[in-house]
Amino acid sequence: MKEILPCEIKENVVKLISKDWALLSAGNEKSWNTMTVSWGMMGELWGRDVVSVFVRPQRFTKQFIDGSDYFSLCFFDDDYKDALKICGSKSGRDIDKAASTGLVPVFDKSSVYFEQAKLVIICRKIACSEMSDKNFIDKSINECYAAGDFHTVYIGEIVSVLEK
Ligand SMILES: Cc1cc2nc3c(=O)[nH]c(=O)nc-3n(C[C@H](O)[C@H](O)[C@H](O)COP(=O)(O)O)c2cc1C
Repeated sequence: MKEILPCEIKENVVKLISKDWALLSAGNEKSWNTMTVSWGMMGELWGRDVVSVFVRPQRFTKQFIDGSDYFSLCFFDDDYKDALKICGSKSGRDIDKAASTGLVPVFDKSSVYFEQAKLVIICRKIACSEMSDKNFIDKSINECYAAGDFHTVYIGEIVSVLEK
């Protein structure tokens, strides 16, 4: 993997997140988890390059993000769509996601990412906030929350970008 700057990411980031999907991961060698995400953003905030991701309270991955200072976002070629479908439909509470998908976790000093990823973004968690229906100007957004399971938004400062 080669380290690049956030502004050197060549692919369309909107497509990468929303259409190709990503794995959001946190933890360490002893204990980690990952899940598929397709809601998220990348850009600038508070004068820093940041990623924001949105995690519902029932996700097992949430406790790893809450318990870590860092998280990663990994992007893959289309060949790995089935692996992302597994990580987006099964919980790490019930399956071993590495064994079920063949994805190989790599641990660096701050987070976990996957050997097969074509692009890895490591983020330092700098802010989080729980969504509330009080703040929805367009009330139709409530349709996403029939179960009252409002996302927590995590904002991560991009600390490294690795490209295959
Ligand atoms: C394409 C796709 C996108 C998803 N995006 C999100 C997301 O942005 N936020 C979220 O909380 N869950 C999202 N999910 C659902 C989680 O990936 C899913 O519930 C997963 O099984 C959680 O795993 P865990 O319990 O091991 O954390 C998505 C699922 C799929 C298939």
